[in-house]
Amino acid sequence: MTSSELWTRATADRYDAEETEMSSAAVLEPTLAFLAELAGDGRALEFAIGTGRVGVPLRERGVQVVGIELSEHMAAVLRRKADETTLPVTIGDMATTVVPGEFSLVYLVYNTITNLLTQDEQIACFRNAARHLAPGGRFVIELGVPPLRFLPPGQVAVPFDVSEQHLGFDTFDLVEQILVSHHFTRDADHGGYRRDHSRHRYAWPAELDLMARIAGLERERRVADWNGAPFTQDSAKHISVWRKPA
Ligand SMILES: C[S@@+](CC[C@H](N)C(=O)[O-])C[C@H]1O[C@@H](n2cnc3c(N)ncnc32)[C@H](O)[C@@H]1O
Repeated sequence: MTSSELWTRATADRYDAEETEMSSAAVLEPTLAFLAELAGDGRALEFAIGTGRVGVPLRERGVQVVGIELSEHMAAVLRRKADETTLPVTIGDMATTVVPGEFSLVYLVYNTITNLLTQDEQIACFRNAARHLAPGGRFVIELGVPPLRFLPPGQVAVPFDVSEQHLGFDTFDLVEQILVSHHFTRDADHGGYRRDHSRHRYAWPAELDLMARIAGLERERRVADWNGAPFTQDSAKHISVWRKPA
């Protein structure tokens, strides 16, 4: 049984409408180019494919994409965009679910490794990625660097968005490595703000490298964005690529 929270129908119905920046061409174009190059002539497996924000346009580029997704509500939204033959999706936990065949690319984007709330499950996720990779295949993760440098002693929260439409801030359990993202989103229909929160297990890049080693993968590349900018000590996120030895 996974520790991940199950994404609800209401969240699924809102997802594509609210993820405007993440669904913009400016974000998606370099994402798709990066992933398509790594997939090459092989097949790609997206862990936690959601509504197909990335998987559907990657399939439209000619890459054979298969998905694993925990929430049937998220997968149902994807189904409005691509049928089962075009883009097969298995409902299940990305840490344990096995789908048939071998892949040249397994990818897990948009901070979603953190939806697994224990270290054991995150390691299991790396092992599951390795299990699906052909020799020489790659596992790609997109993940924010934990924003702890913005949390001085005595301060309880780190704001990440303060705008007319949305107030967002993170709170932390530093012992359990759990971050809770809080959102107050303006609700045009009902007036006022809708309140949501989600729990995440944050992890440093070095911890992911160790998980990859445990899973038998070797680090090949770490960059700060999908355009390949160098990863530095000021980078807010990273795209990391690990390779299964040939
Ligand atoms: C931030 S969304 C990302 C969706 C999609 N990959 C994207 O980039 O738009 C996180 C997704 O992870 C799914 N998820 C969370 N925990 C999961 C798990 N243990 N196994 C599979 N999917 C999971 C959620 O249901 C949700 O669809």
